[in-house]
Amino acid sequence: MENEMEIIFDAVSDNEAFARVAVAAFVSNLNPTMEELADIKTAVSEAVTNSIIHGYENLYGYGRPGRCPADRKKTNEGKVRIRCVLEDDVLHIQVTDKGKGIENVEQAMEPLYTTKPELERSGMGFAFMEAFMDDLEVESTPGEGTVVSMTKKLGVSAWIDGKEQ
Ligand SMILES: Nc1ncnc2c1ncn2[C@@H]1O[C@H](COP(=O)(O)OP(=O)(O)O)[C@@H](O)[C@H]1O
Ligand SMILES: [Mg+2]
Repeated sequence: MENEMEIIFDAVSDNEAFARVAVAAFVSNLNPTMEELADIKTAVSEAVTNSIIHGYENLYGYGRPGRCPADRKKTNEGKVRIRCVLEDDVLHIQVTDKGKGIENVEQAMEPLYTTKPELERSGMGFAFMEAFMDDLEVESTPGEGTVVSMTKKLGVSAWIDGKEQ
């Protein structure tokens, strides 16, 4: 069976929690394990955060809640789009922004690489997406935007643990 959903929302930090919960809710019919849900939420969170803070450079609300430094109050207009397709128990997630794009995708995907060290970022966003999902592809055009495509097969841990019914 195939099932699809799409959401488009403002590129502001306030929507990060909404985005990861929306995707988690979309797969809930498949009875994912807590671990699978945590993996999906982390990957979505990292991709959406990247679109907001790197793609559109919207730093308002980023960091400690209620303690946003004045220089982070800039808000650029922009939307983030998440498209999810479930093909049986395989989840495809696409996170798209029309932000500034990435000059060198290969370099950006290296663990610990970050262009915003001043934000105390770990540079591990892409590494986490890669670790928690089965497949990760990043397409980006400077000045046009970025598409992050991730895939995860659900229900795998059930048969590894011998709990499949
Ligand atoms: N959607 C995006 N738009 C523009 N640049 C991005 C985007 N996603 C990632 N990047 C670039 O890739 C780098 C690495 O991303 P990531 O691994 O998540 O580390 P971090 O977010 O901690 O910097 C970022 O510092 C940024 O330069
Ligand atoms: Mg990141």
